[in-house]
Amino acid sequence: MYTTILTNLENGIFTVTINRSEKLNALNKDVFNDLDAVMDEVKKNDDIKTVIITGSGPKAFVAGADIAEFSSFSKAEAMRLSKRGQDVFFKIENSKKPVVAAVNGFALGGGCELAMACHFRLCSENAKFGQPEVNLGLIPGYGGTQRLTQLIGKGKSMELQMSAQLIDANEALRLGLVNYVTTADALLEKTKEILNTIQSKAPLAVGKIIETINAADTGNAGFEKEIECFGDCFETEDMKEGAAAFLEKRKANFTGK
Ligand code: COA
Repeated sequence: MYTTILTNLENGIFTVTINRSEKLNALNKDVFNDLDAVMDEVKKNDDIKTVIITGSGPKAFVAGADIAEFSSFSKAEAMRLSKRGQDVFFKIENSKKPVVAAVNGFALGGGCELAMACHFRLCSENAKFGQPEVNLGLIPGYGGTQRLTQLIGKGKSMELQMSAQLIDANEALRLGLVNYVTTADALLEKTKEILNTIQSKAPLAVGKIIETINAADTGNAGFEKEIECFGDCFETEDMKEGAAAFLEKRKANFTGK
């Protein structure tokens, strides 16, 4: 049924594993289609009480949007990509059933954005987080400019996004980006322990907690601005240079054009 994700339902906990480890689980069109469809399954299937999103392999949760897929996009195509990504991530964020990210390695760009769309996050000691889009002459396009700011505050969000600096698990814990850090082996076990506790509570009230806490983040103007600015980047020479440099495995030479 799904081509890029694996699913497993056990004791009400539905584990969704993004399964493109040869590309560090980068988010391409197929992954978005699968995530979109899987959230419909989560909504419809009464046996699913809570959800874990994780990545396959020991190295990456998700290393970002698939750079190869969008490198030659026009502004209009880029804006559609950004809107599609935002819509799928809103579906996760607005799920009435708890969705938790178990971050098992790199969570970069779209990967960090996916983790942040989940209701909360745990990670393994080898996890690394960041929004390194500026290395590609780009900005985050799947809600990262908004959600990173909500989670860790404006100043640190500005610094991380402008510098493309990656942070390790302990720094992510210190900043409140993740709630717990575990060994790689204990990550799913710890996540399930928390979800088991949540599953013993009143599900309708849990759904209302999600709804009301999400309502504290006012307005969608920032998300719309993000789509527009993401699209603008695709009309620059720096974006073409940044994407080409990544794919050719060399350092980008930006000119400000
Ligand atoms: N999009 C497309 N392909 C990606 C990818 C992405 N975001 N991230 C990794 N890959 C691919 C690599 O191109 C490589 O493919 P290949 O084996 O066919 O050459 C494969 O995944 C393994 O990645 P590699 O870069 O060789 O691993 P590494 O251990 O040397 O480096 C990272 C790991 C995460 C530091 C590095 O892959 C990286 O910087 N990725 C991009 C991160 C990023 O900028 N994300 C934001 C995108 S908007």
